[in-house]
Amino acid sequence: MSARRGDVRPARPADRAAVVALWDALVAEHAARDPVFALREGSAATLLAAVDGISRDPAAALWVWDGVDGVVGFCAALRRAAPATAAERWRVEITELVVAPAARRRGIGKALALAAFDWAAGSGVARIEVRVSVHNDGGQAFWRTLGFADFVNVLDRRL
Ligand SMILES: CC(C)(COP(=O)(O)OP(=O)(O)OC[C@H]1O[C@@H](n2cnc3c(N)ncnc32)[C@H](O)[C@@H]1OP(=O)(O)O)[C@@H](O)C(=O)NCCC(=O)NCCS
Repeated sequence: MSARRGDVRPARPADRAAVVALWDALVAEHAARDPVFALREGSAATLLAAVDGISRDPAAALWVWDGVDGVVGFCAALRRAAPATAAERWRVEITELVVAPAARRRGIGKALALAAFDWAAGSGVARIEVRVSVHNDGGQAFWRTLGFADFVNVLDRRL
């Protein structure tokens, strides 16, 4: 792959459509592996509202990768309070991370994740969580490369 050209920056209002398109494609990719992730019909407006909600939320952040081909990746993160009884007060959860298929394996996903790490560390948070589908081999490998390890297993069953 050619060297990446571009950089991570905080998302701007003008990025909304690009972020929604990436988010929609991310969900479609997950839904192809497990239908439980499938979006409802006409959910683009909901994704748009979710992007706007992240932008307004002081506990949330969203970064994009802006390169020669425009915005080809984004990462969203949320600072969450721990239960009142926990010694740990806060954690950051990376809620979404996606890079367009044609731009993968150039370090863009890592650069976006590192922006979230810096943001978490800068706000005094010492631990980051991410939920990854067990069917997502690439995502599993990516996060483990960045030092993430098994923490909690989320189990489910059909009724
Ligand atoms: C996971 C994802 C964000 C990675 O983005 P990316 O830009 O391709 O990742 P990077 O190029 O920064 O990869 C960094 C390292 O992670 C590992 N890695 C990344 N993707 C991998 C894959 N599919 N299989 C194995 N290892 C992988 C490699 O060690 C890679 O370094 P290398 O290319 O020098 O070997 C991207 O594949 C994606 O958008 N997938 C669909 C959405 C998704 O799964 N999101 C995360 C789930 S929460």
